[in-house]
Amino acid sequence: MTEATVANHNGSSAASIPELSGGRPLIGHLREFLKDPVGMLDRCWRDHGDLVRFRLGTRKFVLFTGPEAHDCYFRAPEEQLDARAGYQFTVPIFGRGVAYDVEPEIMAEQLGFLYPALRDASMRRYARIMYEETSAFADTLGEDGTIDLPLHMNELTVKIASRCLLGQEVRDQVDSGFAEAYHDLEGGINLLGFFAPKLPIPAHVRRDRARRKISKILLEVMSERRRCGTATDDFMQTLMEARYNDGRTLDDEEATGILVTTLFAGQHTSAVLATWIGVEMFRDHDCVTRVRNEMQEVYSEDGALSLAGLNKQSALGRVVRECERLHPPLIILIRKVIEPLQYAGHTVPSGTMAAVCSASSHRLPHLFSDPHRFDPERFADPRNEGDQHKYALIGFGGGKHRCMGEKFALLQLKAIWTVLLDRFDFELDTEFPAPNYGSWVTGPKLPCRVRYRRRSQANTIS
Ligand code: HEM
Repeated sequence: MTEATVANHNGSSAASIPELSGGRPLIGHLREFLKDPVGMLDRCWRDHGDLVRFRLGTRKFVLFTGPEAHDCYFRAPEEQLDARAGYQFTVPIFGRGVAYDVEPEIMAEQLGFLYPALRDASMRRYARIMYEETSAFADTLGEDGTIDLPLHMNELTVKIASRCLLGQEVRDQVDSGFAEAYHDLEGGINLLGFFAPKLPIPAHVRRDRARRKISKILLEVMSERRRCGTATDDFMQTLMEARYNDGRTLDDEEATGILVTTLFAGQHTSAVLATWIGVEMFRDHDCVTRVRNEMQEVYSEDGALSLAGLNKQSALGRVVRECERLHPPLIILIRKVIEPLQYAGHTVPSGTMAAVCSASSHRLPHLFSDPHRFDPERFADPRNEGDQHKYALIGFGGGKHRCMGEKFALLQLKAIWTVLLDRFDFELDTEFPAPNYGSWVTGPKLPCRVRYRRRSQANTIS
């Protein structure tokens, strides 16, 4: 029996999973993957369809492509497809005793503490914070100029996320050390880290130093709150007062770990998607006109940006969805197969890494017409291309690990571009950027400069 022709649960032999051509001894498909991961994963589907196997070094992978395959992937129980084993490289970043370092039930309890921070009442408050931070950023830009958009979107989303989720005290320290440490922490996510997260390479040494610094900042804020008896209504406070189901309170390490996990899950992903939204819109004047007309309708009576107003901005919502489709920040999701998994007459053997790739499945030609084209109206009536299947779009994942912060992210992306389009006209000052696959979160390659000019009718939204 070959490695992929295995006995299924009925004892009969399952069809063998096709293998991607071009694998080399020892390295497998690693060279092609490092050069162009999405190109390679596209080839998987083009050559073999929904289920394909390949190797990265000694690790065996099976790629699930297309909504039916995604459905099987996302519905599999944790005991069968284990996220924890796939994401061990995050442990030095998120910290010991939290997220993928603990049993899935404990991780679910820990992440569950986030729910109150994502309720509508909190979202209403966040909408105003998003407005204030974006406005303050817009005020620094002057009348006209050129900026490297990803760098500014990164700074802005660190400020928004730290203020909304970690607390005002942490936001106040963004410019004095927090942002720099956070940047080094992000640098700890690299391909080498995926295979050997503890290897003492310079990026990992910086990562561990940055993790200690961030921890120190958060611990100081928490102990100051305790000392002064301050009880702010935010996520940090929720964690400081939270209890597990067995009645145990969280220790400070766990609380800081959950805060870092949340910030990490939500900030860089939002920054890169905000950038993609900008650069896609700047080359489509009709799209910008549609979004601005809608802004005028929504804010003509009461000009204040709000949760209710942002929820009404469906044209902008379609732009965000289209950028999620074309430029998903997390291009690959990974699980380890613990118990053999059946799909379409095949058995995916235990020990394999199972992957889905949003970047290639979002461009399947039988699901999305002219799939490489930026066309937000594909999500409007009567086309509704996103509604064909629950898992046609998987930019925010699916199943039990589906993104908890999707609403927050969508709100933030809409708030940022509502304020910026109200204030400025933009155009790209560089070639349309290529994706940078060198980072775990896929953003545009630098430089990604845009020119801006303040509009004469600016500041109609307050
Ligand atoms: C554009 C922004 C974002 C994108 C593209 C994104 C994408 C994703 C994806 C694809 C997953 C699933 C990972 C997997 O199944 O392996 C995920 C999980 C998660 N996201 Fe997001 N995310 C974004 C923003 C946020 C924000 C703002 C927050 C927090 C406020 C957040 C919190 C989380 C958490 C806690 C999980 C883990 C859920 C679990 O494993 O149970 N995300 N995200």
